[in-house]
Amino acid sequence: MDKAWSMKTECVRMDLLDEDARSEALDRAGRIIREGGLVAFPTETVYGLGADAMNAQAAARIYEAKGRPSDNPLIVHIADFAEAEALSGDISPGVRKIMETFWPGPLTIILPKRPEVPDGTTGGLPTVAIRMPSHPLAAELIRKSGRMIAAPSANLSGRPSPTTADHVYEDMKGRIPMILDGGPVNIGIESTILDMTEEEPVILRPGYISPRDLSRVWGGQIHLDPAVASRTMKKDIKAKAPGMKYRHYAPKGRLTLFEGPSSAVTAAINALSAKDRKAGLRVGIIGTEETESLYKGDVVRAVGSRQHPETIAAGLYRILREMDDLNCASIYSESFYDEDLGEAIMNRLLKAAGYRHIKVKPGLGEEGFFIEETDVPGGAL
Ligand code: TXA
Ligand code: MG
Repeated sequence: MDKAWSMKTECVRMDLLDEDARSEALDRAGRIIREGGLVAFPTETVYGLGADAMNAQAAARIYEAKGRPSDNPLIVHIADFAEAEALSGDISPGVRKIMETFWPGPLTIILPKRPEVPDGTTGGLPTVAIRMPSHPLAAELIRKSGRMIAAPSANLSGRPSPTTADHVYEDMKGRIPMILDGGPVNIGIESTILDMTEEEPVILRPGYISPRDLSRVWGGQIHLDPAVASRTMKKDIKAKAPGMKYRHYAPKGRLTLFEGPSSAVTAAINALSAKDRKAGLRVGIIGTEETESLYKGDVVRAVGSRQHPETIAAGLYRILREMDDLNCASIYSESFYDEDLGEAIMNRLLKAAGYRHIKVKPGLGEEGFFIEETDVPGGAL
């Protein structure tokens, strides 16, 4: 049965408050967490939907509010190194070095869990995901509540992650009592997830902290999980982070990605856009500051600049939500592979597209492009 969601959702603009009012709002948020309720808060990556990590009932409320499958475990957010010890008894010197270098920051570490960590938080897994966020409001909320905070991204399951408090409000209105508004987040895509339960570390989800950053500190190779590295949805590869097997971050419209030299990508997107528009579909196009003016669609957006890949990460989820708001039925996007951050951006975009992507080459004909390879699950062009 569908629950009637009619709770009053208070959204507090933290930057508008003086010291006393700010502290009072954080006290209230901390109390909600201690009493087993939910509070959405900013982190440096995306907004999180927090609850007391050691209270299985509180964690269950997160799944309910998000409409999230209960086998998909939560990340436990901490504010002090000692809290990592309370969650896992297996912190080797190598793991500690990684923690001390990258925390607080956008890195989640998977370790064997202590028995005290409830199954309701870890989705029944014997391991726990731990992260120390660097956003000051996240750290203050954890400290004020006196609890470690389990938090997934604060979107409805399947939707793009929220990068502003408005996005959280859109998805969580009526479902949670309080949102701490700390303005737009800084990074815009979720933390790197590093599995350190095996002999050699494996990245389960790429993010702002890159394999290169990690291997410099680890002193050895950092592997990429095969399900991430393959860039396709192969059934025989089992995703180790349960969350990675779900379609995610997806806009309502049909999203298709194009890869290849810029001129061929632009020509291909314009050709398919014209075809769709003729068929009466509303078309959205995701380009960059460098290419935006070359496109013809109903909604054309620059997600950021190729000169600064971090602007693309920061704008990605906002643009995907905007395509929904503007009712785009067909969405075409450029690809953004480049070193490091490109891997993380494309991991999210491919998932949002249900892995629909098309490789193009420059062509001499009238259209100016060739289709070199298509991977379009669930249907032809
Ligand atoms: O940046 C972030 O990590 C954000 C902010 C709010 O901190 N949080 C976030 O949480 O992205 P969520 O729940 O949307 O994604 C958590 C991912 C899921 O894919 C989940 O399957 C994986 O982490 N995960 C959690 N615990 C795990 C575990 N014990 N083993 C493997 N994967 C795990
Ligand atoms: Mg999420």
